[in-house]
Amino acid sequence: MNWPLPPVLVVDDEKNMRLSLKSILAGEGYDLRLVESAEEALGALEKEEFLMVITDARLGGGMSGYQFLALACKKWPNTPFLMITAYATPKLAVEAIKAGAIDYLAKPFAPEELLHAVSRCAEFHRLKRDNASLRASVVEPYQIDQIIGQAPKMHELRQLIRSVAPTDATVLILGESGTGKELIAGALHSLSQRRQNNYIRINCAAIPENLLESELFGHEKGSFTGAVKQKLGRVEEAHGGTIFLDEIGDMSRPLQAKLLRFLEDGSFTRVGGNDELHVDVRLIAATNRDIIQAISQNNFREDLFHRLNVVQFRPPPLRERGNDIIVLVENFLQHFNATMNKHVRGVSAAARQKLLSYHWPGNVRELRNAIERAVILETTPEIQPASLPDFQLEGRLRKSDGFVIAANESLDVLMADFERQVINTTLENNRFNISKTAEQLKISRHALRYRMQRLNITDAEEEPPSAPGREG
Ligand SMILES: Nc1ncnc2c1ncn2[C@@H]1O[C@H](COP(=O)(O)OP(=O)(O)OP(=O)(O)O)[C@@H](O)[C@H]1O
Ligand SMILES: [Mg+2]
Repeated sequence: MNWPLPPVLVVDDEKNMRLSLKSILAGEGYDLRLVESAEEALGALEKEEFLMVITDARLGGGMSGYQFLALACKKWPNTPFLMITAYATPKLAVEAIKAGAIDYLAKPFAPEELLHAVSRCAEFHRLKRDNASLRASVVEPYQIDQIIGQAPKMHELRQLIRSVAPTDATVLILGESGTGKELIAGALHSLSQRRQNNYIRINCAAIPENLLESELFGHEKGSFTGAVKQKLGRVEEAHGGTIFLDEIGDMSRPLQAKLLRFLEDGSFTRVGGNDELHVDVRLIAATNRDIIQAISQNNFREDLFHRLNVVQFRPPPLRERGNDIIVLVENFLQHFNATMNKHVRGVSAAARQKLLSYHWPGNVRELRNAIERAVILETTPEIQPASLPDFQLEGRLRKSDGFVIAANESLDVLMADFERQVINTTLENNRFNISKTAEQLKISRHALRYRMQRLNITDAEEEPPSAPGREG
């Protein structure tokens, strides 16, 4: 990644000093901006990004170098400041560092000293930028052979990926959480003619609604509070490549309208801008929401849905993939054995039964996590049921309404079940302290004890000596 570096800002009221700094730095290929005062420097910082700022401690006229430093460091905390002082005394050095400088140079200094300080900043800047871009913008897409499964539907899915990938068709991926939507999107890019170019993934649910538009399409400087510089949109970064809009069901309606326009011909404007820009991008979108329901509730534009839905992928839930559960387990076992240096050979018959009979609401992701945990816990050569999560408990915890209604039970039994669950959960939340639990449930300690006895709930509290008169 070889972007040009931003310029170095030099602040000095002495012309000769500015010129000598310039000749040293320009000779090494740095771009420079020279200003005479703190006020001018603040103006320049508002407008442009700088690699670093070099300021003299004494600036004729208005603000001193220290005052400038204190102000500017607070406002641009990511820009390094280097202070030049007329003579080095420990006191002045401390002042400079306290005001926010990363380093200081005492006059007279050798050109190498200056170049060394600046190249450190340049290196830091490069690392920061490479890092940010590796992390955030260009993700390594997945390969098709990472999509494991022998179920007929999985064969069909891989076949469809192979035939759709080389086209520029827009793709919509619908499926429950953890079914591999992201894997499919990545494989589509990897097998396309766009694979040499960027693959940009944006999680629409993870970015605050008011920032998503500027993230996608960029903004002009000053278009909203906080827009201090112009920012390119991710669609521009994706030019020639693919953009994957994950969790598209969470996108706001106004932004859906802008996306619709973008999909028609690749045109858009930056937030606060007037120019119509144009890019060549392939779009893949995914959601685990019920999109049809979202349309009927007016949360998702029907016209956008049709635009996106040129080719639709529906990775099936794991519970419908039969023996693929075991095929995946074997793969995950191999992977985690290798990464954790363990030697778990296989799955015991009882554990296999347990895995096959569970309904896997979190799909492949949940299975992967369960196997990772089992590999950690397992002490025998095969995974035993005890190393797997307690799926019944997990199923109950997962229910948002908190209660599973057992079939063919009387109301009395169901009510007792419910009461037991409420008391157990409240006890747990209060670390089995009877008084606090009773207080939270607005009953007396005595009444709570009575109910616990009736419901066969063991009292795990270390009974503290109860103060007289506390029973309600
Ligand atoms: N067929 C598969 N073979 C191997 N690993 C898979 C498969 N499907 C999913 N995975 C793995 O399961 C995890 C979840 O997959 P992924 O992130 O693609 O799911 P998702 O559908 O995007 O989920 P969500 O809706 O929660 O974002 C990942 O670790 C992925 O590598
Ligand atoms: Mg996903």
